[in-house]
Amino acid sequence: MWTSPASPSSTRTSRATPPILPAVEAFRKKILEADCVLFASPEYNYSIPAPLKNAIDWASRPPNVFADKPAAIVSAAGGSAGKRMQYHLRQVGVFLDIHFINKPEVFILAHQPPRKFDGDGNLIDPKTKERLRELLLSLRAFTHRLGPS
Ligand SMILES: Cc1cc2nc3c(=O)[nH]c(=O)nc-3n(C[C@H](O)[C@H](O)[C@H](O)COP(=O)(O)O)c2cc1C
Repeated sequence: MWTSPASPSSTRTSRATPPILPAVEAFRKKILEADCVLFASPEYNYSIPAPLKNAIDWASRPPNVFADKPAAIVSAAGGSAGKRMQYHLRQVGVFLDIHFINKPEVFILAHQPPRKFDGDGNLIDPKTKERLRELLLSLRAFTHRLGPS
C-alpha cells in the first residue's frame, strides 16, 4: 500500500534534488526491479488521481525508474470508466519513457451492473476478470518481446 508523502517539489529547500524518504526509496526500488508495471486506478475529475500522480512524480526523480519499462493500465471509475485518466497517464508516460501496450484497453464501469467488486474490493465479475486476464497476457508477451531492461 502506497502512502503518499508530500510532492517532490514541496520538500525542496534548495535547487538540489529533494531528500528521498525510505518509503519512497522502497517504492522506487520495487519499480526498478520489476519486469513490467500494471497501473490500476480510478479517475478523478477527468484525470489521474493526485496520490497516483504524486507516486509517479517521486518515481520520476532522477534517475527515472520508469524509464524503458513495459506497462499496462486498467481503470475502474464512474461514468467514464476511467478513459480520460488512461489517456492522461499515457501522455505522462511519453516523458517518462514508459512503453504502454495499446491493446486490449480495459475500462471498468465500477458502479454499474453487473456488480464488479465485493465488499472487500475483490474483483468478482467473470467477464471483467477475463478482460483483465487478456490484459495481463498481452503485457507479459510485450515484456518478453522487449527483453530485459
Ligand atoms: C474526487 C472524485 C472525482 C471523480 N471524478 C470522476 C471522473 O472524472 N470520472 C469518473 O468516471 N469517475 C469519477 N469519480 C468516481 C470514481 O472514479 C469512482 O467512484 C471510483 O470507484 C472511486 O475509487 P476510490 O474509492 O478508490 O477512490 C470521481 C470520484 C471522486 C471521489
